[in-house]
Amino acid sequence: MVKDKGVHELEDLPGIGPAAALKLRSAGYDNIEKVAASSPYELSELIGISAENAKKAIEAAREATNIEVQTGAEVLEKRKAIGRISTSSSGLDELLGGGVETNGITEMYGRFASGKTQLGFQLAVNVQLPVNKGGLDGTVLFIDTEGTFRPERIESIAKGAGLDPKKVLDNIFVTRARSTEQQVLTAERADKLVREKNVKLIIVDSLMSLFRAEFIGRGALNERQQKLNAHIHKLQKLADDYSLAIYITNQVMDNPAILFGDPTTPVGGNIIAHAATTRLYVRKSKEEKRIIRLVDSPNMPEGETVIKITPEGVKD
Ligand SMILES: Nc1ncnc2c1ncn2[C@@H]1O[C@H](COP(=O)(O)OP(=O)(O)O)[C@@H](O)[C@H]1O
Ligand SMILES: [Mg+2]
Repeated sequence: MVKDKGVHELEDLPGIGPAAALKLRSAGYDNIEKVAASSPYELSELIGISAENAKKAIEAAREATNIEVQTGAEVLEKRKAIGRISTSSSGLDELLGGGVETNGITEMYGRFASGKTQLGFQLAVNVQLPVNKGGLDGTVLFIDTEGTFRPERIESIAKGAGLDPKKVLDNIFVTRARSTEQQVLTAERADKLVREKNVKLIIVDSLMSLFRAEFIGRGALNERQQKLNAHIHKLQKLADDYSLAIYITNQVMDNPAILFGDPTTPVGGNIIAHAATTRLYVRKSKEEKRIIRLVDSPNMPEGETVIKITPEGVKD
């Protein structure tokens, strides 16, 4: 009798026992395809094995997976279908290659009161515009983890954009998350709303505040990162499945390891760094001016631009 030695389950991978498989599943890596697509660093951090062993597991997963290939031309064709939401600043739109793009995660990090939420409000209004006006004709799911959603601000920004404030507010579905459990579940259960209401933008403001408040100390870090990882994977999946944009805001800390230059570093570690398609860093300048730096993008050069945050919203 020939025994089937094929790799089918996570436990079939070298170095992955039941405990590691459990960790992987709870972090959203529920099949070998997902392991095949992960990086050794990510995997070793997640389940606490050496990068070398993680590499072996990934290689085995890749061998066992029928990897779907596309030609560059096919990928290009798909990229043409990617939508963009204008930020209302032509400088920032240009920096982003046309605006905040769908099918990916755009992260904005910066200090308190730097304008992260305000830009979220602007995007929540602009996504409702028709495509030829910089929108996506869509609605918004706003996951508010800090209690800073302000309908009055939306009204002012909507009026500034020449829209009916009442209609604009009707198209923003706000959920106030008070625990990471609520935050995670909102994303987990968003599919129905997204389909029925044509949601084209999901805002998580802010991504990390509840995670930081709930998981305190070094001992909790691993668990926090696992839960965070699963959350981000779900957001990315929503972006892919429904061609929508994800805008997340993030807090910062001072990184003492940076001796020269600006030590301001986004929190959340490598999991966010890897998952965010586009990373922006915003900081205050004089009066209403804000300097926005494109830190990381798959296809745009690094650069900086200045925007203004006015009573009517974002301006050049
Ligand atoms: N009605 C308004 N008119 C003009 N500027 C405003 C208004 N409301 C908020 N702002 C500006 O936005 C800042 C707060 O930005 P916000 O996006 O809430 O910060 P955070 O980065 O902490 O999310 C305020 O300090 C102020 O400069
Ligand atoms: Mg805020």
